[in-house]
Amino acid sequence: MRRSVLGYFTGSALALLLALGATTFFVATGTAGEPPADDPATTCIGCHEQVTPGVVSDWKLSKHSQEDVSCDACHGTGHTSAADVDKVSLPTPDTCAECHEERVEQYKKGKHALAWAAMKAMPTTHGLPAAMTDGQKGCGGCHKIGIKTAEEIAQLKQEGNLFGSSACDSCHTRHTFSKKEALQPQACQTCHMGFDHPQWEMWSSSKHGVRALLRQNGTLDDGVAAPTCQTCHMQEGNHEVITQWGFLAVRLPLPEDKQWAADQVTILQGLGVLDPSGQPTARLDVVKGAKVARLTQEEWQEGRDKMIATCSQCHSKNFAIAELQKGDDIIRDTDHLMAEAIRIIAGLYKDGVIPKPKSYASSFPDLLTFHDAPTVIEQILFEMFLKHRMRAFQGAFHSNPDYSLWYGWSEMIRDLSEIKERAEEMRRAAKK
Ligand code: HEC
Ligand code: HEC
Ligand code: HEC
Ligand code: HEC
Ligand code: HEC
Ligand code: HEC
Ligand code: HEC
Ligand code: HEC
Repeated sequence: MRRSVLGYFTGSALALLLALGATTFFVATGTAGEPPADDPATTCIGCHEQVTPGVVSDWKLSKHSQEDVSCDACHGTGHTSAADVDKVSLPTPDTCAECHEERVEQYKKGKHALAWAAMKAMPTTHGLPAAMTDGQKGCGGCHKIGIKTAEEIAQLKQEGNLFGSSACDSCHTRHTFSKKEALQPQACQTCHMGFDHPQWEMWSSSKHGVRALLRQNGTLDDGVAAPTCQTCHMQEGNHEVITQWGFLAVRLPLPEDKQWAADQVTILQGLGVLDPSGQPTARLDVVKGAKVARLTQEEWQEGRDKMIATCSQCHSKNFAIAELQKGDDIIRDTDHLMAEAIRIIAGLYKDGVIPKPKSYASSFPDLLTFHDAPTVIEQILFEMFLKHRMRAFQGAFHSNPDYSLWYGWSEMIRDLSEIKERAEEMRRAAKK
């Protein structure tokens, strides 16, 4: 290889390079006229072997390197020296689409693509420190998996946020872009954990996860059957990731069960999607645009059937149908607790016991205000919804008894008692 030329460029090569002025420096090789592919003065790889060695060594391990997909395929050729770093291009999913069109098309149909828009649509986003959103810390650190529009990227650049618009490096990370990495459940862990979506914790301590992790550490045979996140959510590598109930577990058309339908209406009112009289608000368009809920029974059933087929690789169909039905049942039962709690707080607004925040569109508590809810009782409602209701049903779908019961259902019962007791106290105090 032409590596030997590089022998001159170790140690303080970078300082030397910068001093020389990169573009004027040229080293001839054996092949007359052609610069070496890793000339440190003029080539991406040569110079970056000094500037960011970890990037180059990762790239060298990648399929891209084997297939001669080099730095310029994703970063362009606008920047060629230390003096013109601002001319570099940073990739977006459209850059990858030049070679991976099918994967990008699938991706665009799924929920990950909508993550940036969903974050931006939340009222709470605008009250947070900018670093927590556009700066890729907090919400933005996970929601950058969403695809941004060209305008959004331009706006972010103006604010000094150059990075984080590539989305596709979320599971197969740069610069190895390894399929092997993306197929491990840990690829999902950073984002699918914690407060309101602890799928990592639930799955990894379920029998599914325990087996998969024992397989991964070599205790169990490679061939042992154990589903990972990808088995159930990226069947056949499909990048269109979406579930039936979604994050918020709301659904249209409403369930047939009358009580459940009434409870879901109350939750939709709490989400500001329906107004107090049950009519759709402007937020319904957000729900549709961000695919927050499946909007037809057919669409919902199609996804459910696909999931049943997945479980049926290892379980009987009867077992699978019954287990998923129990998840639905738990949503119904938690919705009943939730609706009661929402109505109690709506009652406090109505009777003037606590002032309804001006920013709320309706006379219902706005669950999407998140932690910005102004009083303690409203904060308990927020946790009941976003933390405990989530755990109850997510735990059921992820076969984790402890999350479902103790971290989910049991906490909801406690939240509801606390809300009731505080509401009574507040009413008594208001009368005095
Ligand atoms: C002569 C040296 C040199 C060459 C040649 C070079 N780069 Fe760079 N590049 C740099 C330096 C220096 C930086 C800034 C590094 C830093 O901030 O730590 C940089 C930064 C970058 C960045 C990050 C951008 C940013 O804003 O921090 C990318 C991406 C990049 N280079 C890609 C390339 C590509 C692609 C090529 C070839 C087309 C290339 N580089 C050629 C020296 C070089
Ligand atoms: C398959 C596409 C692809 C290829 C090929 C590629 N990069 Fe990148 N690179 C990316 C992505 C994606 C990012 C993240 C951009 C962002 O966050 O906006 C990135 C970021 C970078 C950064 C900034 C990273 C950081 O963490 O600070 C540097 C420097 C860089 N690339 C250099 C290179 C060099 C040098 C090569 C060739 C050895 C190369 N890239 C090849 C896709 C690629
Ligand atoms: C110029 C064409 C080109 C571009 C642009 C490109 N790739 Fe690739 N990519 C390839 C080729 C060729 C392969 C190897 C064949 C294959 O596996 O499809 C590959 C393979 C991959 C693999 C599989 C690696 C493995 O371990 O098997 C991933 C993941 C990947 N690319 C992601 C990306 C992402 C993400 C981007 C954008 C940031 C991107 N690629 C941009 C051409 C490209
Ligand atoms: C640790 C990563 C992470 C952080 C931090 C995070 N989110 Fe999320 N967010 C996710 C994941 C993962 C989901 C999907 C969870 C699910 O479906 O169970 C999600 C779902 C959502 C949804 C629901 C979208 C839908 O279509 O149903 C909204 C809205 C949202 N997040 C907004 C925010 C806001 C606003 C913040 C900051 C206050 C935030 N997120 C912080 C990872 C994160
Ligand atoms: C949620 C995680 C995740 C994200 C985000 C993601 N991928 Fe993947 N990717 C995977 C998984 C898992 C595989 C392995 C699929 C398989 O073969 O079973 C994969 C494989 C690939 C491959 C390897 C070859 C192939 O087609 O199987 C390419 C190329 C690829 N992804 C491109 C992309 C592009 C482009 C994006 C952005 C639009 C993207 N990926 C975003 C998880 C992800
Ligand atoms: C055995 C299959 C299976 C495995 C393994 C699995 N899930 Fe799920 N997941 C489901 C089912 C079933 C649902 C509920 C689907 C519905 O809406 O009807 C679900 C729902 C979800 C949701 C939507 C909110 C919720 O929790 O109900 C997210 C996000 C999610 N899973 C992420 C993950 C992640 C991340 C992993 C790995 C840490 C994982 N899942 C492992 C089957 C699985
Ligand atoms: C960089 C953070 C990040 C990573 C990594 C990530 N996700 Fe997500 N995921 C999100 C966010 C954010 C959402 C919510 C998007 C929305 O609804 O707008 C989401 C949504 C989902 C949903 C859809 C839930 C619904 O509302 O229907 C599923 C399922 C899911 N992810 C599974 C996975 C799996 C499986 C992996 C790993 C292969 C993974 N995710 C990796 C951030 C991530
Ligand atoms: C790749 C194989 C595989 C897939 C796919 C799979 N499971 Fe499992 N599942 C297992 C294994 C193995 C066990 C552990 C059995 C035991 O405890 O003896 C298990 C255990 C369970 C358990 C715990 C109860 C019990 O019998 O031990 C539930 C509940 C469950 N699975 C539900 C599901 C559902 C629902 C799906 C689809 C969403 C699914 N599984 C998909 C392999 C799988």
